[in-house]
Amino acid sequence: MTAIPTLSLDRRTALVCGASKGIGRATAQALAAAGAKVLLLARSTDLLEALREEIRASGGRADVVVADLDDREGLAGMARGLVAAHGPVHILVNNSAGPPGGPLLAATPDALLVAFGRHVLAAHLLVQAFLPGMTEAGYGRVINVISTSVREPIPNLGVSNTIRGAMASWAKSLSRELPPGVTINNVLPGFTDTERLASLGEKRAAREGTSPEDVHRAWLAQVPERRLAQPQETAAAIAFLSSPAAAYIRGVSLPVDGGRLRSI
Ligand SMILES: NC(=O)c1ccc[n+]([C@@H]2O[C@H](COP(=O)([O-])OP(=O)(O)OC[C@H]3O[C@@H](n4cnc5c(N)ncnc54)[C@H](OP(=O)(O)O)[C@@H]3O)[C@@H](O)[C@H]2O)c1
Repeated sequence: MTAIPTLSLDRRTALVCGASKGIGRATAQALAAAGAKVLLLARSTDLLEALREEIRASGGRADVVVADLDDREGLAGMARGLVAAHGPVHILVNNSAGPPGGPLLAATPDALLVAFGRHVLAAHLLVQAFLPGMTEAGYGRVINVISTSVREPIPNLGVSNTIRGAMASWAKSLSRELPPGVTINNVLPGFTDTERLASLGEKRAAREGTSPEDVHRAWLAQVPERRLAQPQETAAAIAFLSSPAAAYIRGVSLPVDGGRLRSI
């Protein structure tokens, strides 16, 4: 009988973008706990170093990569440097801050360009840089942290809705082009207890003349689980998609939203 595929990431190297906070931070911890060597990418050196020490203290393997995903000139060279220093990167988690809120009609072309660059173009450059190593190893996992807005656009997040759709189409297109053994999938977080959500709640409360607690209650009313997700729950889905157990899952968008999406 064929053995049940493992969830272990032993012998794998992962690059987690946006690893200093929130979902990215929890993802780095989850991948390290599953056995991967985790390269922690973001701009905040101190937060990344603290996380590296935390992972090492619990027996995991981690290194810091201070980089700005907006610096596209430097991104491909940085990625090649990582492969030279650490060997092939088998798992790439594309994740960074969501674009600022606001109606789409009020968005400047620049706001759309910046968001497209930080999300789609950065991810594209990183996939191109890591694909040869993934292909040679016969093992690659690309996981994009996007949003449920891929399925149902969210009011007042016009730029985000637009860019998330582009990212999902980019990923689906790539899922048809990547070689066997190299998969790409999206995770769609719902309301997740991170700095980003707290800041969105405060801004919405100020705009609507209400309190952050009222905004919070309105959010939970939409979620059958009646609570926010913890970033570790989103990370667990990403760890699964990174593993050998998910080898036949390709080109999907997995909501981790407590059942908030109404669409099938
Ligand atoms: N939280 C939610 O409820 C929720 C819901 C749906 C979708 N999402 C999406 O999921 C993603 C992660 O959300 P989160 O709540 O974990 O966000 P977060 O707490 O704001 O964390 C964002 C991470 O991205 C890094 N980052 C931002 N800009 C960067 C840049 N230019 N270069 C490199 N790193 C950068 C930040 O680190 P530095 O500042 O140190 O660079 C940080 O580590 C976002 O795209 C968000 O929109 C979140």
